[in-house]
Amino acid sequence: MSFLDQAAHLRQLALESHQLQLKLKKEKIKSRIITVTSGKGGVGKTSLVVNLALAFAQLGKRVTILDADLGLANIDVMLGVVPQHTLYDVVHGRKNLAEIAIRGPEGIILLPGGSGLTELADLPEDKRISLINKLQSLDEAADIILIDTGAGLSRTVLSFVAAADEMLLVTTPEPTAIRDAYGIIKVAAKQQLQQKMQLIVNQVKNAQEGKEIAERLITVSRKFLQVELQFIGSICSDQRVVMAVKQQQPFLNLFPHSQAAENVRRIAAALLAVPVKKTRGLPGFLNRLIQLWEKA
Ligand SMILES: Nc1ncnc2c1ncn2[C@@H]1O[C@H](COP(=O)(O)OP(=O)(O)O)[C@@H](O)[C@H]1O
Ligand SMILES: [Mg+2]
Repeated sequence: MSFLDQAAHLRQLALESHQLQLKLKKEKIKSRIITVTSGKGGVGKTSLVVNLALAFAQLGKRVTILDADLGLANIDVMLGVVPQHTLYDVVHGRKNLAEIAIRGPEGIILLPGGSGLTELADLPEDKRISLINKLQSLDEAADIILIDTGAGLSRTVLSFVAAADEMLLVTTPEPTAIRDAYGIIKVAAKQQLQQKMQLIVNQVKNAQEGKEIAERLITVSRKFLQVELQFIGSICSDQRVVMAVKQQQPFLNLFPHSQAAENVRRIAAALLAVPVKKTRGLPGFLNRLIQLWEKA
């Protein structure tokens, strides 16, 4: 082989290796992003997020929680940890991501959003891109990212729903909670916000009650909105949930044999059994979020 041939050959090899690396990078599995929301407040979203995260972790998944409830952020309280800083400090360049991320039980990472999330939209392009790039590292550190949002039909909450891969809608058997859950489904359907709408009924008397409520919501959503809602499971009303909240600990840890803990483990397994399509990962999620805010 002549020197020139050799050089060409090497270049070809280098090119192939580069293409392979690009392909691998592209195919890198991104985190599954699940936004947890509700129509009415106080239905148990935060409690579900914390305990579901733990259940996923116990099933070997790496979990990050993004606390995006801009009003009443309280994930930290339920995990018994106190965040000193939030995404707000990262946005303003005062802290880096590693400094604001809190380690919870079983390697769960908690990211306190604070008002930093809404400020993302106002960042100059270069700062925003740099922040989103930094978030890429978090994406690689998590199989599942759970986003805890506030309740109701605010623009911010709906944009979280729209930007995520999946929505987990929480309701209780209370008529107002069911009505408000339907309100979310309606807006999400009308604006074609979300393809994967999944339902959890919390604080039920028994599994039968959860099933009946889910069936009602599924039927009306299908009939009037042409939307297919997936029922994932229900959680019994359990005094030990209340006790655990008071002790600032996940009930899954404090009362692992409680009915509620059993229900949440079942929900985690059911969610892992749902086939997931390509996900956008955290950077994709944030990009989409910003686009939605800019459009509005
Ligand atoms: N399965 C349950 N059984 C009994 N009480 C519950 C249950 N889930 C939630 N709660 C109660 O509801 C309160 C509100 O829950 P929380 O997770 O803060 O709701 P949200 O985040 O939707 O506002 C909790 O402090 C707890 O006392
Ligand atoms: Mg909450």
